[in-house]
Amino acid sequence: MTTPSATPSIVILDFGSQYTQLIARRIREQNVFSAVLPCTAKIEEIRVQNPIGIVLSGGPCSVYDSDAPPADPAVLELGLPVLGICYGLQFITHHLGGRVRSAAKREYGHAEVDLVDAEANPLFASLPASLHVWMSHGDEALELPAGFHLTAKTANAVAGIANPERRIWAVQFHPEVHHTKMGTALLRNFLFNICGARPDWTPDHFIQATVAAIREKVGAGQAICALSGGVDSSVAAVLVHRAIGDRLTCVFVNNGVLRKDEFAKVQQNLRDKLGLKLVAADAGRRFMDKLAGVTDPEAKRKIIGNEFIAVFDDEAHRIAQETGGVDWLVQGTLYPDVIESSSVKGPSQTIKSHHNVGGLPDFMKLKLIEPLRDLFKDEVRRIGRDLGMPEDILQRQPFPGPGLAVRILGEVTPERVALLQEADDIVVTEIKRAGLYQQIWQSFAVLLPVKSVGVMGDQRTYAYTCAIRAVHSEDGMTADWVQLPYEVLKTISSRIVNEVRGINRVVYDITSKPPGTIEWE
Ligand code: XMP
Repeated sequence: MTTPSATPSIVILDFGSQYTQLIARRIREQNVFSAVLPCTAKIEEIRVQNPIGIVLSGGPCSVYDSDAPPADPAVLELGLPVLGICYGLQFITHHLGGRVRSAAKREYGHAEVDLVDAEANPLFASLPASLHVWMSHGDEALELPAGFHLTAKTANAVAGIANPERRIWAVQFHPEVHHTKMGTALLRNFLFNICGARPDWTPDHFIQATVAAIREKVGAGQAICALSGGVDSSVAAVLVHRAIGDRLTCVFVNNGVLRKDEFAKVQQNLRDKLGLKLVAADAGRRFMDKLAGVTDPEAKRKIIGNEFIAVFDDEAHRIAQETGGVDWLVQGTLYPDVIESSSVKGPSQTIKSHHNVGGLPDFMKLKLIEPLRDLFKDEVRRIGRDLGMPEDILQRQPFPGPGLAVRILGEVTPERVALLQEADDIVVTEIKRAGLYQQIWQSFAVLLPVKSVGVMGDQRTYAYTCAIRAVHSEDGMTADWVQLPYEVLKTISSRIVNEVRGINRVVYDITSKPPGTIEWE
């Protein structure tokens, strides 16, 4: 399932810049659809996207490097408006007969740029004569290709070029980065003044087009979906449910390491509030039996992953019998995963998270519906909001597939799960009460296999230690520990020690990632 290619798009060719996805998001924020393709994409692959303009991204290479990304210069001959950014400018210069050289002085960070003859340039319409921008490059354009003129400069170098007849514009700085003041205005000029885009890629439009496309694709077929209670799988399920109603059956598995009351709450949210047809498989015992005696973190992950597949497969077979056969599997795949897996041929080799690997066994042979595969996470939330979904689903912090098992160090037993559920519930409740839940990437409790001495009333205690973890992060790849207010820490600590029998000490984890990880296992 992709956004129907009838949707006009801006195609961004990815030369490997860390900012490529940001360009896509900035364009989409203007309600114009944008697709990221590897710079090696063939012209036919670009055409499939129904492009009304092309952006050439930045990238870490030099055009003279032997491993410079091998993009097809024919993208400059399509007659479509082109905006080159950073490396994109050098690519244009190099391939159209100009000259690029290694700059005497590398420009990195904030810079001032003077626009040249801005009134005559639709890319710079209504921008001030001088801009504060973000630069990040080593090479620079030395000689411009024939037919091009200088549109912007810094004290040291070329900062912008254009050939309006060929509909090619380029800037050396990064308009997509928020340090570039007026960057959004520049991108809007490209979209609306130059490409003639219309701001009609709205949540409502997306929902209607996607629902219609799913309906057509699935026909009279049956679909199933594994729900985790998180935002991606829930929004995907609600979209598919809009299209095919109760021919979608959702499966939610209790793996025994969910949070307190989560099994009941998720059912309430999805079945009662959202009207999904939901099978709730209460398989906690099955998981616990398999986890008995296991202490190695990766072994725990594997057991939970395999058991999940087994339970889901059992349910899928049962549903298939009841409904006369299932053909489709709904998955909540998001755009960053699509870009990462499609850019193997290109230079953007993002370090891939080792999590969420695996998935469903081949023998299920179901065809995939991935209604969110064109969306970034914040766009999924916007769509969910338009679908009328409750905020507690849309704003839920990420929760790992192996659940509390990777937050219980040592063996996972029902008693330890129950302890951690209580402590975790206190952390989440107090963080929410302090109004911090949505600002924090993840906040949770971890149960340590360490017992220490305490005193309660006149009694000596000897009980477990609990660590509190709260981190800020953009994507889980790096993270900073949160400087939680002392008052919040104090309440959390005193509630846990007083209310959770079996924990008598609370510590706060002040480790960033790297070198730590977010989860303790
Ligand atoms: P780490 O602990 O590696 O976690 O810093 C980064 C992000 O990934 C989540 N995480 C997982 N998610 N299965 C998942 O679905 C897993 O096995 C897993 N391990 C970690 C973690 O919660 C954080 O958001």
